[in-house]
Amino acid sequence: MYKLILDLDTGIDDTLAIAYALGSPEVELIGITGTYGNVTLEQGVHNDLAVTDLFGHKEVPAFPGLPHASTKDSFEVLPVSAFIHGDNGVGEAEIAPSPRQPEEENGVDFIIRAAHTYGKDLIYVATGPMTNIAAAFERDPSIINEIGNIVIMGGALTVSGNVAPWREANISQDPEAADALFRSGAQVTMVGLDVTLQTLLTTKETQQWRDLHTKAGDFLADMTDYYIRAYAKTAPQLGGCGLHDPLAVAVAIDPSLITTLGVNLKVDLEEPTRGRTIGDKDRLNDPVKTTQVAVGVDKDRFLQEFMGRISGLAASC
Ligand code: BDR
Ligand code: CA
Repeated sequence: MYKLILDLDTGIDDTLAIAYALGSPEVELIGITGTYGNVTLEQGVHNDLAVTDLFGHKEVPAFPGLPHASTKDSFEVLPVSAFIHGDNGVGEAEIAPSPRQPEEENGVDFIIRAAHTYGKDLIYVATGPMTNIAAAFERDPSIINEIGNIVIMGGALTVSGNVAPWREANISQDPEAADALFRSGAQVTMVGLDVTLQTLLTTKETQQWRDLHTKAGDFLADMTDYYIRAYAKTAPQLGGCGLHDPLAVAVAIDPSLITTLGVNLKVDLEEPTRGRTIGDKDRLNDPVKTTQVAVGVDKDRFLQEFMGRISGLAASC
């Protein structure tokens, strides 16, 4: 069984990513590393512990990572993030706080330790800013080619961004960190807006969670309905909410869900296009492409897996 680390800014769709992972027998979630973005680092880690408790997985530890971008010394939640995810990050849905404490080991150190321990059996999925993984690579470059599978949710190659026409939210938080990851030499799969805005959820599906009549089912439905309402205001043309983060987990488990384009990616660091994910002209002719960018997705199969796995988990807790 593969070992999985989720690096999250938990967040509504990050919570759905946790649920997807816990509903997947192919992987063991060995830890969550916390980052900032949708919420503060502290709130995100609080949510990680509460959510894993609710889903009956009190054994999953949460490691606080770095609290702000690599080029900044503080972080504040943007009003748009609070609008989409709620002040508590889980759409103001009610959830009991966990009696557990976050781990003392920093998330960056945990990533390094896990890479050395599990090597190619380790899957790392980031669904927030890339600050922790970039710091881990900087601290210990020997892990760059040691991790079995690195998948990120972030970026937009063939479509516009969601923060600005050229900027997606996770990359936008720390463009330097994402650029360092793309240029590190590690093989990375990028699951960006190109595909995550094709995988949508509606209240028809959340009603199925409500119909389970379990605590987890009610929580998932309340939380996700909040997200769907936010999407109805900000992107009514979609007709649902984007399943960004759980798609990244699904792809890490089953890469056949997507079709990809090999590109040596970089992130623009200068204005006016700061935060744009784009091919690196200087590496255009390198025969080895280090990023596989998802450009197509089998959305029906993904949605079926998504509902099957998460409903299976929520039915029992
Ligand atoms: C990404 O930004 C965050 O708001 C979501 O959780 C997702 O990871 C989408 O751009
Ligand atoms: Ca996220």
